[in-house]
Amino acid sequence: MKAHYDMLIVGGGVIGLSIAYQLSKLGSSVAVFERNRLGCEASSAAAGILGAQAEIDEEGPLLDLAIQSRSMFPSIVEELKEKTNIDVELIKEGLLKVATTEEEAQVLQRKASCHQRWDENVKWLEAKEAQAIEKGLADNIHGAISIPGDGQLAPEKLTQAFAQGALYHHTKIYEYCNVYSLITEKNKVKGIHTSSGTFYGGAVILTTGSWGKELLPNADHLEVFPVKGECVSVRSDKNLLKKTIFLDEGFYLVPKAGGRIVIGATKISHDYTKTVSAKAIQALLEKATRLLPSLSEAEFEKAWAGLRPQTNDGWPYLGPHPTVEGLHMAFGHYRNGILLSAVTGKIIAEAVCESKQNHSFFDSFHFMRTMEGIR
Ligand code: FAD
Ligand code: GLY
Repeated sequence: MKAHYDMLIVGGGVIGLSIAYQLSKLGSSVAVFERNRLGCEASSAAAGILGAQAEIDEEGPLLDLAIQSRSMFPSIVEELKEKTNIDVELIKEGLLKVATTEEEAQVLQRKASCHQRWDENVKWLEAKEAQAIEKGLADNIHGAISIPGDGQLAPEKLTQAFAQGALYHHTKIYEYCNVYSLITEKNKVKGIHTSSGTFYGGAVILTTGSWGKELLPNADHLEVFPVKGECVSVRSDKNLLKKTIFLDEGFYLVPKAGGRIVIGATKISHDYTKTVSAKAIQALLEKATRLLPSLSEAEFEKAWAGLRPQTNDGWPYLGPHPTVEGLHMAFGHYRNGILLSAVTGKIIAEAVCESKQNHSFFDSFHFMRTMEGIR
C-alpha cells in the first residue's frame, strides 16, 4: 500500500473533498481519510441553500467569502458534471426572506436597504407582491426580502461530485479509516497515524468538521462544537413552491427536484446525537404549514439530523497553523459549509500547493484571531 502522498486530508465531508478536488487538479498526489463513509456527517444532512445574503447580514470578510463562493457554483457544477456525470441540481430561483410580524418586517426592511447598497437586485416586497410570486404563501405574512442571487442545490450530490472529481484527478480515498494522531518533528508535520497504518505527507489538512479540535495541537483557546439541526422533508406533485422561503430566525422551506420540499431546521448546541425528536418534527411541520398552508396535503417523506460545526465566534478556521509547519485547517463552517465549499477548496488548495500563504482571507479566519482579540 502506498504510504506517502504530497497532501493528506483528514475528513471526507464537502470541505475535505472540495479541497482534494482542487489540490489534485493542480497536480498534487492527494489522499483523503474518512473514519466512516464520505459525506456521512453534516455534508449530507444539509438543506443545500447557497444563502450568502439570507444567512449573513453583517458586511465584512465572511460575507465577502460567501458571495465569492456563491458566484463560483455555476461554473464549478458544470466542470464537475463534465468530469463525473453527477448533476448536483443547482436551482437558481432565488429566495424570499419572509416577515411573519410587523416588527420582523421593520427589521427586514432595514436589512434589505443594507444589501441594496451593493446589490441592486435585492428588493423589499410588500405582502401582496410576495404572494403574487409565491401563490401558496399564507395571507398573514408581512412582506419579504427578495434575494435573487441565493440559489440552492443537492448537498449530498455536491459532496459525491467533489469526491468523484477528486478520484478523476487520481486522489486516493480511504473510507472507514480513523485518524488517531499527527506525526510531527521539530514543529513540522510529517504524517498521520490511522486505523489503516501510518501515512506520510508534505502537508496535512484538517477538515474534520465538528471534531476540528481533536487532532489539533495548541488549541486550548479554540472552541469547536456541534449545533445539531433536525429536518423533515415532504413531497407533492402540485408544484407548491419555486423559491426558497427563509425566516430570519433560520427556519426554511427549500423546494427540491421531483416535488420534494426540505423543511428545517432546529438548533441544539453541544449535542452529538443524530436522533430526531417528535417535538422537533411537530414544531417544524407546524411552522411550515403556517407559512405555506397547502403543505399539509403533501406526503411526509423522512426526518433526519446532522451536526453543524460551530466555533467560538461563528466563523470558520481557515489557513495554515501558526506554529506547526505544513499543517492547515479548514473547519467550523457552521450553517454555511455547502455554500463556502467552493471557495474554501480553491483558496486552501492554492495556499498549500502554490504557497499563496498570504491570501488576504486568512487574516480574518486564522487560528489565533480570538486570542488576539480580532474577533
Ligand atoms: P462534515 O460534513 O461534518 O465532515 C467532517 C468529516 O470528518 C466527517 O465525515 C467525519 O466523520 C470526519 N472525521 C472527523 N474526525 C475524523 C478523524 N479523526 N479521522 C477521520 N475522519 C474524521 N450549509 C449550507 O451552506 N447550506 C445549507 O442549507 C445548510 N443546511 C444545513 C442543515 C443542517 C440540518 C445541518 C446539520 C447543516 C447545514 N449546513 C448547511 C451546514 C453544512 O452542512 C456544514 O457546514 C458542512 O457540511 C461542513 O462540512 P465539513 O466537511 O466541514 O464537515
Ligand atoms: N444553513 C441552514 C442550516 O444550517 O440549517
